Amino acid sequence: MATPAHVPVLLVPLLAHVSPVSGIWLDGTFGAGGYSAGLIAAGADHVIGVDRDPAAAAAGQALAQAHPGKFTFIDGEFGDLAEIAADFSDEPLSGVVLDIGVSSMQIDQADRGFSFAKPGPLDMRMAQSGPSAADLVNGADEAALADILFQFGEERASRRIARAIVAARAIEPIKTTEALAEIVSKCLPRPKPGQIHPATRSFQALRIAVNDELGQLAKGLVGAEMALAPGGLLAVVTFHSLEDRMVKRFMAGGADDGTQVNRYAPAGIEQAPRWEKVTRKAVTADDAECAANPRARSARLRVARRTTAAAKLVSAASLGAPGLNLDEVWA
Ligand SMILES: C[S@@+](CC[C@H](N)C(=O)[O-])C[C@H]1O[C@@H](n2cnc3c(N)ncnc32)[C@H](O)[C@@H]1O
Repeated sequence: MATPAHVPVLLVPLLAHVSPVSGIWLDGTFGAGGYSAGLIAAGADHVIGVDRDPAAAAAGQALAQAHPGKFTFIDGEFGDLAEIAADFSDEPLSGVVLDIGVSSMQIDQADRGFSFAKPGPLDMRMAQSGPSAADLVNGADEAALADILFQFGEERASRRIARAIVAARAIEPIKTTEALAEIVSKCLPRPKPGQIHPATRSFQALRIAVNDELGQLAKGLVGAEMALAPGGLLAVVTFHSLEDRMVKRFMAGGADDGTQVNRYAPAGIEQAPRWEKVTRKAVTADDAECAANPRARSARLRVARRTTAAAKLVSAASLGAPGLNLDEVWA
């Protein structure tokens, strides 16, 4: 059976906040191309669609054929978006959109290993290359696993689960989504009707670690700041609180609402605001969109406009990302 296509989330409010659309836009999370197609229809002169999943290339080629000269697909990471934009054009970007997370195609395909509800290999790699979730679960030490589960999944039973993983893999390697889901489920109370599956937080945490999702987000935000023209727009849709907090801090940290001023700094060194908020608070999906597409329930959209102030490097940690050094985990 063919995998159902990804239904774009919050596309209507996103386009409403960034219109009128013109110039060169970069869609850092191409997926099935819903945002890119929406931007072309709204008037973008050209859209660069980036995705790290090679499976997204076919939809990218189809969109390029349907709109000759208007669309280019790049197999890459949005963490490199400033470099991608500079390679592609001498002109700064008019807009950047990011729709963070996994696509329906990725989550619904059992053999990609993203879902505790679908039996498959314990993979979770968006790029289909590099170390997998099985490598992490079978290779990382117990303390590192507990930190990942706690910090990226906000899993309170992180130590218990890490201990159970280490005990299970001493008998045989944990290779499948079912095996991991069972180990995690045994560590937690049976869920009451309406509660989430016990493995939800652990799977989210491992996916974030395998794909360095928070590191990519921080680099992508800074990259957008470097690549956008003054007046250019950045629109970001996130699906959980860790990411939304980073986007909120990034936009507020550079915006002229008083939050960027360090009151202990000597007078005269405050930076000019680098961003102007377009959305005062996060935009969420309305009842009709949530009813039609349950994925939309947790989505939050934030939009900001670039000023003329010089770009600044900020770290993931300064945006509130957990201070977990993934290089050490993989070492
Ligand atoms: C939620 S889907 C985007 C759906 C898209 N907006 C649409 O309308 O079809 C997220 C996509 O972003 C990709 N992705 C996630 N992180 C990425 C990164 N750091 N660099 C490039 N692509 C990434 C995933 O592979 C996935 O295809």
